Amino acid sequence: MDNEFLPFPAELVDVKALTKDTKLYRIRFADEQKQKSFSFKPGQFVEISVAGFGEAPISITSPPSTTEYFELCIKKVGKLTEKIHRMKKGDIVGIRGPYGNGFSIEQLYGFNPIFIAGGIGLAPLRSLIKEVFAERDKFGNISIFFGARRPGEIIFKDELKEWEKMAEVKITVDTADDGWDGHVGFVSQLVEKANISDNSFAVICGPPAMFEPTVEQLKKKGIEDIQVSVSAERRMKCGIGKCGHCIAGGEVYVCLEGPVFTYDRYQEISKML
Ligand SMILES: Cc1cc2nc3c(=O)[nH]c(=O)nc-3n(C[C@H](O)[C@H](O)[C@H](O)COP(=O)(O)OP(=O)(O)OC[C@H]3O[C@@H](n4cnc5c(N)ncnc54)[C@H](O)[C@@H]3O)c2cc1C
Ligand code: FES
Repeated sequence: MDNEFLPFPAELVDVKALTKDTKLYRIRFADEQKQKSFSFKPGQFVEISVAGFGEAPISITSPPSTTEYFELCIKKVGKLTEKIHRMKKGDIVGIRGPYGNGFSIEQLYGFNPIFIAGGIGLAPLRSLIKEVFAERDKFGNISIFFGARRPGEIIFKDELKEWEKMAEVKITVDTADDGWDGHVGFVSQLVEKANISDNSFAVICGPPAMFEPTVEQLKKKGIEDIQVSVSAERRMKCGIGKCGHCIAGGEVYVCLEGPVFTYDRYQEISKML
């Protein structure tokens, strides 16, 4: 019987610092066939591991249409991620997955997609945003609202600039420092100020604390809970419904049913936590 917990060796083919604590890793499975057959949806995650340092779920940030490698954007927060930040191009990590349900791009067809991200939450959305750009004519106006704690914590800075050619892009920081002349405040305030039609579908990813105030602003613009998806990156371990770490209310396995939920379903689940 196959061991579902067995990771596949994969090489870090490129490493790029995005901020002082966040790096972008371009990764390719050591086995060419494995890389060729690796397919996923935006919003899905993999489990990345380093022997002796553990394993963690990380969202895939590259789009599914890129097949020769995939990318992970990793923030240094603890034992494993600190180790990965010390690794270099050519080093080998373990990867298993993809897991979780992911976003449904079809759900956005015909709508004005609004992508709302806080912090590292931009990583899974980047995969979906790139896929939406690739199918541009299936959508109305595209908006991207991104909030970071400080200017130095803005990830994918160059790409956000590039995306301005195809979408309305607005960035805010919680706290400004010298040299920042952009918006200061929470990402929900960008939504409040935006000109949004009720034919919009919002996808939100970031700290759970941003969900409620953001959805409140969307509601004021006529957007129903069913026109909102959120990615609930609740604590997970195995990612495959075996360890019970992510269970809500003794019955919902967030790693299997999620991490992406419509906002009405997310509210039901968060009441069980
Ligand atoms: C579905 C999913 C997708 C994710 N995608 C990404 C991603 O794209 N990029 C990224 O950098 N991180 C992502 N994370 C978070 C990532 O899994 C954790 O940061 C990771 O487990 C840290 O491992 P560590 O051993 O370095 O830290 P640990 O030593 O395990 O913990 C360090 C600190 O982080 C806290 N922590 C640990 N795990 C989590 C968690 N899941 N959520 C919140 N706090 C946590 C701990 O309480 C501790 O304070 C994702 C998590 C989930 C569940
Ligand atoms: S993470 Fe193990 S059961 Fe969901």
